[in-house]
Amino acid sequence: MIERYSDFSLLPYNTFGIDVKATRFVEFESEEELCEIVSEGIAAPTLVMGGGSNLLFLNDFDGTVLHSKICGAEVVVESEENVFLRVGSGMKWDDLVKFTIEQGWQGLENLSAIPGEVGASAVQNIGAYGVEAGEFIERVDTISLADGSKHCFSQSDCQFGYRDSIFKHEAKGLYVVTYVTYRLRKKPEYKVAYGNLRQRVEQLGGLSPANISQAVRETRALKLPDPAELGNAGSFFMNPVVERSLAAELLEKYPEMPQYKADGGIKLSAAWLIEQCGWKGKRVGNVGAYAHQALVLVNYGGATGQEIIELSDAISLAVKEKFSVQLHKEVNAISCEN
Ligand code: EPU
Repeated sequence: MIERYSDFSLLPYNTFGIDVKATRFVEFESEEELCEIVSEGIAAPTLVMGGGSNLLFLNDFDGTVLHSKICGAEVVVESEENVFLRVGSGMKWDDLVKFTIEQGWQGLENLSAIPGEVGASAVQNIGAYGVEAGEFIERVDTISLADGSKHCFSQSDCQFGYRDSIFKHEAKGLYVVTYVTYRLRKKPEYKVAYGNLRQRVEQLGGLSPANISQAVRETRALKLPDPAELGNAGSFFMNPVVERSLAAELLEKYPEMPQYKADGGIKLSAAWLIEQCGWKGKRVGNVGAYAHQALVLVNYGGATGQEIIELSDAISLAVKEKFSVQLHKEVNAISCEN
């Protein structure tokens, strides 16, 4: 059933815990319902929301928020090596991860305990512990907001990159994701090179999706705050990729600086840069940089989006001044005046 609300509080719908309202909030449970909403006309501006775990509201949203409640996971093709699972965009991401592990299908276990929903996994190409969701996405089904027509994007159409996809560029704001089809493995290829993941997995009894998932959950719990207890949106900034020449200069000056090879240059650790500028664990009013992971900005309670942005601007400026490196937000800041 289509659910329509006015002056709707988005407080429980954004993990930062920012107290703002949407003028209209509309939920749908099927592609047909979404087509009906589109054909009736949607009062602009429009925002398509998933679990609100990567959004920062700067003020009330005077427009229409669309939220998918399309659920369910269905095996569409199965071979000896793979399972193709078509999943509704409104399913909670971690419920999907748990379901695939229960079925004995491998692939998503490194992405355990990430907040958010299935639709956003394709838009954001969520990633953690050496794995990105896009590696497992076979196809993304969408509905055009312009005319309700269906458009399917193949994995290559999606142009997945580091926390990036076509849905953040050419296709931005044009489509609503309705289903994502994942290609999961029956013959596992585990990735446990991150930190001491392999060691912990061995202690838990050896390589398996369930043990990797457990080890990842433990690691995340140590470093990342639970949004139910402390408002946050995971990493606030992306890890910056800089030119080799700048990376070399920086390494000469700061020999202990973490650097990683990346497409188009050298990837630096945003958390390390922020920590070096003295921001780790620092609190300003209702907001701060988390004590166990400097890259995570937190709402200690009652913060406005503006306060978070002011903190992020101060952090960016400090990093720019000290290291000549520009940080870019991973979190999507939403302002109706933009
Ligand atoms: N570090 C510090 N200070 C800190 C935290 C980290 O100096 O406070 C340094 C350490 O050298 C550490 C390195 O940064 O070895 C990397 O830290 P971490 O492994 O925690 O990863 P990250 O690069 O900070 C990224 C993702 C996370 C993901 C982890 C694990 C981005 C923007 N963030 O963080 O994703 O969980 O790797 O794979 O790429 C998210 O996107 O919301 C998110 C949480």
